[in-house]
Amino acid sequence: MSLLTDKKILLGITGSIAAYKVADWVRALRREGCRVTVVMTDAACRFISPLTMAALSGNPVHTSMFAAEAPEKIPHISLAREHDLLVIAPASAQTIARLAHGLADNLLATITLASSGPVLVCPAMNSAMFQHPATQANLAAINSYGYVVIEPDCGKMACNEEGPGRLTEWENVRQAILTAFAPQDLAGEQVLITAGPTREPFDPVRFLSNPSTGKMGYALAAAAKQRGATVTLISGPASLSAPPGVRCIQVTSALEMRTHVLACLDAATIVVKAAAVSDFRPAETADHKIKKGQSELSLQLVANPDILKELGERKESATKFPLLVGFAAESRDHLKEGARKLKEKNLDLIVINDIGGTETGFGVGTNRVTLLDRNGAQEEVPLLSKEEVAHRIWDAVARLTDNR
Ligand code: CTP
Repeated sequence: MSLLTDKKILLGITGSIAAYKVADWVRALRREGCRVTVVMTDAACRFISPLTMAALSGNPVHTSMFAAEAPEKIPHISLAREHDLLVIAPASAQTIARLAHGLADNLLATITLASSGPVLVCPAMNSAMFQHPATQANLAAINSYGYVVIEPDCGKMACNEEGPGRLTEWENVRQAILTAFAPQDLAGEQVLITAGPTREPFDPVRFLSNPSTGKMGYALAAAAKQRGATVTLISGPASLSAPPGVRCIQVTSALEMRTHVLACLDAATIVVKAAAVSDFRPAETADHKIKKGQSELSLQLVANPDILKELGERKESATKFPLLVGFAAESRDHLKEGARKLKEKNLDLIVINDIGGTETGFGVGTNRVTLLDRNGAQEEVPLLSKEEVAHRIWDAVARLTDNR
């Protein structure tokens, strides 16, 4: 299951060379279980064949206001009613101008005018056309109608010119689609999330760490953004890209993470500590690489500060403090250990994570967790993608913020 399973997406393709790129988007949507129907303008049909889009979407492609096959149906009205979300990509300067002025002179423009659901518009055109005051005014107009405009990327275009105007990447569109379907229950919240491992060096080329990849923390950051929060992510070394619209601070060691968490604390209303922080660090870091040639090497370790516990202690004496969410990475006595950490670290919610299985914990795309809150409410979240688990965690947080 995906968060998009069974969603009905109407994809409007217009006349831009970037039309070929959205062929892949259709495949991506169908992989996630969406039902995709495609509408193409005459100009779009010159760039990519309706046959290609019909084969990829598994549905007939609509190109005309006056379809001969079912004259009793009024296509622009039935299509406008039968989808959950309209995505217009690539959106040419011409189509954006049509939408801005409420024209109804082709099927796609008419459907857009007749739609009452969410509309995403992904502009793609030459950068001079994009930057022209007329296009900018048209974009401002469609924004004011509530359409979500996903900014084009900057870079080299098919016409060999450079600048803003390249069709945005699929990942940005996917995030915008998820946002359109997500509850906006974190609007106004300032969320601070830590993710990934920390590295504790003992010479310039070696360190102590753990197998955390940051997937769970990054999924939490993306989901919080989708639900309307302003999100800051403090990440240990991870090979993931920050989700669109999330401010990301890269750190390496636990001490660095602590410094940044404390610096961001005042602005936060919710703190989620998903990072797998190293509990110990080498007492000393050698200036130069430690050479072999000795049969044994002992490292002396010292304890790192427990950042979350420190926050919990500060919370005790504070009149106003962010809601605190911690994780418990456990391989046995999960519930007992989770309940102990919830209490000892003075948390509002703990996510108890089984790091023993092959489908849960470090590195994998799925997770199975137990949520335990300060009021004793316990929820077993079954094995799901980390993206879905992230939303379940935010559901639980949203219930607690309601009672704040
Ligand atoms: N944590 C932290 N700073 C540390 C260690 C842990 O902020 N130095 C946070 C983690 O981000 C997590 C929670 O504390 O939210 C629990 O971490 P976990 O590794 O499960 O437990 P520990 O408190 O380290 O205890 P133990 O290793 O004994 O299980």
